[in-house]
Amino acid sequence: MPWRQMIGGAKTNEQEVIQKLSAASGYQLQLFADSVPNARWLAITRSGDILVSQPKKGQVSLLSPDRDGDGRADNQRILIGDLNRPHGLLLHENWLYIAESDAVGRVPFDHSDARLAGRYQRIVEGLEDSGHWTKTIEKGPDGWLYLSSGSSCNVCVEKDRRRASIMRLRPDGSDLKIFATGLRNSVGFDWSPKDGGIYATDNGRDWLGDNLPPDELNLIDPDKFYGWPYAYGDRVPDPNFINDEDPTIKEMIAASLPPVHKFAAHNAPLGIRFLRSPEQLAGYRGAALVALHGSWNRSVKDGYKVVSLHWDDGGKISQRDFLWGFLSENRKEVSGRPVAIAEDAKGNIYISDDYAGAIYRLSPTAAPQKAKVSSKKIPAPARVPRKPPPTDTAAAREGRALYLTHNCAQCHQQQVPLTGLNKKYTLQSLADYFDTPTPPMPRYDLNGEQKKALAHYLLSREALQ
Ligand code: HEC
Repeated sequence: MPWRQMIGGAKTNEQEVIQKLSAASGYQLQLFADSVPNARWLAITRSGDILVSQPKKGQVSLLSPDRDGDGRADNQRILIGDLNRPHGLLLHENWLYIAESDAVGRVPFDHSDARLAGRYQRIVEGLEDSGHWTKTIEKGPDGWLYLSSGSSCNVCVEKDRRRASIMRLRPDGSDLKIFATGLRNSVGFDWSPKDGGIYATDNGRDWLGDNLPPDELNLIDPDKFYGWPYAYGDRVPDPNFINDEDPTIKEMIAASLPPVHKFAAHNAPLGIRFLRSPEQLAGYRGAALVALHGSWNRSVKDGYKVVSLHWDDGGKISQRDFLWGFLSENRKEVSGRPVAIAEDAKGNIYISDDYAGAIYRLSPTAAPQKAKVSSKKIPAPARVPRKPPPTDTAAAREGRALYLTHNCAQCHQQQVPLTGLNKKYTLQSLADYFDTPTPPMPRYDLNGEQKKALAHYLLSREALQ
């Protein structure tokens, strides 16, 4: 469908959009796809295909990666349709999970040929979807799935406790429980590879003027309350409840957790993604990207960009622009609104835009700088790009994906290089190593197949060297 017909308000054409944009230095920007109306959430398959949810079209599309080198998706097709405002997407084991506005469903997914391998089945039903209807689903390192649901209103006391919360459930849909509350609209959340915490964006309320309240980044702890609707920011009481005599409100505010970082008011942070690929430029490995969808409840527009968040050694967070130019200099014209961020195994970063119906790709280009080494060992020489590990066996490919998602490289790229494994281990004994690794090597919750896959990957990688 010609995208211009789909998007009210977008007057520029796609090439103009891309020309207006600027990216952080060292990253090359490309317009990966421009006919994906209402592109919202993203997920990347083990073969590098990009899945995109399009809630307003009730579908999820599949875009093939750019193998012919023109910077664009090689192919695009609808993977599954007839869904109820599908938003969140998650690939876990051999399932594709889809968070519809009122349900969570899953369908067997074959990563090797990018096809559905069975019937779509809803595993959670009856979720409320008035107001902030989008649902986002992600997988935690603890093996649970996490599901966020926005509020039904701007400011109100919800009847359904699942609104304005993050929930947790098992991969088969059972045991759905509320995990954290007081989150007005946490559209994006991800786990920090550094401290393991869940960092969630949250959109503050409307109608308190241009500069209130701040939008938030919260560090989510189990059973904690994050303030909404009674308070915002650093436990500032919400004017709607200021004259309420109910003493429990004061107690709740006092017990609520303030954000760990504040975004400017009405910037609307949506997707957040920690960059895990060892291919990222040194300053960006372990940083998080956040898509600021942009303001509507503000006299002068603000947001409309992607920022990077950087944690210093003391845990202090600083924010920098990563991809900007969606808003004209006079702050009047908008040419795009970023939503979600995904990173593939090669370090390519994909960003969806539901206004232009586009997906952008940013690739690290400058030579990666030397990472800081804290051990006394002689630092390894700066990484030179080497041939990627063989991906001829499915197991090695899966192992590589696991290596990336668990960010094994944070310790094994330089401090503890994994070399000579083929002299020490057989496939089986290496797989068994993961049952009882030597601290500080963490123990991961891996099943037998995953342990084998990692062993396959690590041994096949050595065969190359
Ligand atoms: C927090 C840092 C850290 C992370 C993350 C980490 N490791 Fe390790 N790993 C270590 C350390 C340190 C050792 C060496 C332990 C020892 O024997 O003293 C080690 C040892 C190993 C060994 C054995 C090496 C040998 O020569 O016997 C393997 C294999 C291994 N890690 C694989 C992995 C994989 C795969 C992952 C990701 C799933 C991973 N590690 C994540 C720190 C880490």
